[in-house]
Amino acid sequence: MPYAHITGWGMYVPEPVLTNDDIARLVDTSDEWIRNRTGIRERHIARENEFPSTLAVEASLKALEVANLAPTDLDLIICATSSPEYIFPATACIIQDQIGATKAGAFDLSAACSGFIYATNMAAQSIRSGSIKNALVIGSETLSRFVNWKDRNTCILFGDGAGAFVLQASDSPGGVLSAVMHSDGSGADLLTLAGGGSRHPATESTVREGKHYMYMDGKEVFRFATRVMGRATLESLDLAGLTTDDIQWIVPHQANYRIIETAAKYLKMPMDKFIVNVDRYGNTSTASIPIAAVEAVEKGMLKSGDKAVFVGFGAGLTWGAMTVEWTGAIPAKKHVHPKRYRFFARLRSFLLRVVRLLEGFLSRKEL
Ligand code: COA
Repeated sequence: MPYAHITGWGMYVPEPVLTNDDIARLVDTSDEWIRNRTGIRERHIARENEFPSTLAVEASLKALEVANLAPTDLDLIICATSSPEYIFPATACIIQDQIGATKAGAFDLSAACSGFIYATNMAAQSIRSGSIKNALVIGSETLSRFVNWKDRNTCILFGDGAGAFVLQASDSPGGVLSAVMHSDGSGADLLTLAGGGSRHPATESTVREGKHYMYMDGKEVFRFATRVMGRATLESLDLAGLTTDDIQWIVPHQANYRIIETAAKYLKMPMDKFIVNVDRYGNTSTASIPIAAVEAVEKGMLKSGDKAVFVGFGAGLTWGAMTVEWTGAIPAKKHVHPKRYRFFARLRSFLLRVVRLLEGFLSRKEL
């Protein structure tokens, strides 16, 4: 049975930064309050012309570059996102077109902030089953579009960004060692974006009632998160036949510093084993775990051969954890340049549209 190795990684955040002081000019809050209660100092916010696919394409091309894999060799693209570009088509299909992944199946996965763990597990299982060889998993968000900038309970927390992993099949042991996924829909109302779906399609009244903004019961979500983070970590480790002594790093979902601290206490692990960057990005939902992992690799913390647990939680309610042996980049004989595919992808996309137009015109003439 092949193993599923993480061989590429990339992240991208939009340039504009929104500090706590900036937010204090919008709502009744302060830098001190936000830092003390969440650990967040600033977050990045997408420009008007940036969307989840825009951020995802940048992160994905970096991940493919590290893996030295051409987009045309991808079999599968999964985009985990809580802020998809449309209800349909899937954001993953837009990414597929823009990077020129001509052979890949593509779909979005909705499991809120646990989405990246769910998606990586789905890709890893497809590789383990032998049905595919190369997968791209992305977490990408522009959640700032669904934030009510007058609601101090939520607007302090979220940021935009994207992270991506390339997973590849190999006969050498390692890569994704185990994963657990959980859900509890009885808590569905604790963190929701109610408007725009089929229960509350967008109308004047849904807009008036602010249903197009996210709603969160912060206290309940906090209690839930502190309960499940440690437990899911131990479950995943147990499944991999490991204990907390065997791992070098925990890469947790970056929602609130205090939630991570509580998990560390539960697991009796020091905070310096936890990768934390919530101070600079806020909660980027599905993107938070890959962004934290990429930074850890770039800082020389997460290294080839290290064992780590990724653990997350989110709306749904959902939660999950994954134990991995970090593979690192595989030495390449010849270099492919994934970014060069971008131009050809655009050209191909344009030509496909022209051909579709001509075919449509000719078939109408034949009728
Ligand atoms: N600035 C200043 N005061 C604020 C505030 C803000 N941004 N937000 C809330 N407050 C006030 C409240 O009104 C309340 O005042 P009161 O005591 O006079 O009623 C007080 O601060 C305490 O509010 P509380 O909600 O108990 O704060 P908290 O310590 O629970 O922190 C969160 C609030 C949202 C930071 C925290 O609950 C949290 O992080 N929850 C989890 C959220 C999360 O992770 N969501 C994403 C899941 S993927």
